[in-house]
Amino acid sequence: MLIAYGDGGLARRLARRVRALNVYCELAPARALAARLQAQPARGVIAAGDGVEAPAGLPVLRVDLDGDVPEEALQRFLFDECGCAREWTVAAFIERAIAQVRAQVGSGRIVAALSGGVDSAVAAALVHRAVGDQLTCIFVDHGLLRKGEPEQVVEAFRRQFRAQLVVVDARQRFLDALAGVVDPERKRKIIGELFIRVFEEEAQRLGDVRYLVQGTVYTDVLESGAEAGHGVVKSHHNVGGLPERMALELVEPLRDLFKDEVRQVGLALGLPEDLVWRHPFPGPGLAVRIVGEVTAERVEILREADAIVREEIRRAGLERQLFQAFAVLADTRTVGVRGGSRTYGAVVAVRAVTSVEGLEAQWARLPYDVLDQISERILREVPGVSRVVYDISAKPPSTIEWE
Ligand code: XMP
Repeated sequence: MLIAYGDGGLARRLARRVRALNVYCELAPARALAARLQAQPARGVIAAGDGVEAPAGLPVLRVDLDGDVPEEALQRFLFDECGCAREWTVAAFIERAIAQVRAQVGSGRIVAALSGGVDSAVAAALVHRAVGDQLTCIFVDHGLLRKGEPEQVVEAFRRQFRAQLVVVDARQRFLDALAGVVDPERKRKIIGELFIRVFEEEAQRLGDVRYLVQGTVYTDVLESGAEAGHGVVKSHHNVGGLPERMALELVEPLRDLFKDEVRQVGLALGLPEDLVWRHPFPGPGLAVRIVGEVTAERVEILREADAIVREEIRRAGLERQLFQAFAVLADTRTVGVRGGSRTYGAVVAVRAVTSVEGLEAQWARLPYDVLDQISERILREVPGVSRVVYDISAKPPSTIEWE
């Protein structure tokens, strides 16, 4: 099924509904429709928004911008008019992806960069299922991950999957590189560049590597404009620039999947629920949640406070309703009182947002009891913190992250 759109948001909502009915579909901007149909035939077209011209000779379902297609009408169109079969399932996807990876890679050596995030983990797990020990996973521990994440990556890939996994302890290198740096963009640049350098050193040590796994997902493809025929793909920020420098060919087994589908594939491959349902986390990690200088001591304060936020959110059963929930360490100190004496400690901000894809976000109306529990625990358990505040800013005009 092809969904031609004037309005991208409507088209994506429709695509999710079509795929939930186990019918594969792709999106194409209205102007690229004819070319796309020529390159890849479809059983039918859904025209999302006004202004989309229907192609001749194919069943077409028109959906107005403000219009909602009743479920029954959508099903009638897909199964009766177009004769689609319910073939788009997780199992079928995995089987096809494995065959494609094998065909692309042959007997070549391939590397994957594990970031602790969902997309890179699912992509690597899928490639491992396809080519086993031809794959080496490289996990650069830059010391800026959330509590428990490095251990979880090792547990899943080395112990459970028995995959070849190289863990690089680069914590001190990153701290040294970040010493004295307070500008958010400089932090990002330093971390991105050092990550590539460390990864490259390890990949070169392996020798004879020809392919690189990328956790590119369908939203990245759409955002890059590749679906309009430009062929540009946003590279994973962590390893951006690496494919060209090392002349590596990309293997992107998740290119056709929406995020929720990536999660389903991850679960089917046996990745732990905790990892699969993890909230998005910025590549530069905790460094962009520490306002001001990143020091070992400040990272530790934030990591402990963040772990409490996530634990309490999970305990309250709110994790899957939220897009992200985390702690931020501000660069302000305030006065407190502990055991009758004056303290002068750090401020931790709690941030929890709801969002669909992160472009816009609302602050979450967390129950007071949950906020109270978070605050009480941080103040009691994390030394050096004298105050906890809740961030009630929407995006826009604020952003989700503080830096
Ligand atoms: P903002 O703060 O721009 O964040 O509202 C939107 C989404 O992007 C994530 N984010 C990043 N992800 N590298 C990343 O890989 C980054 O430098 C970065 N900055 C923000 C953020 O966590 C949110 O999900």
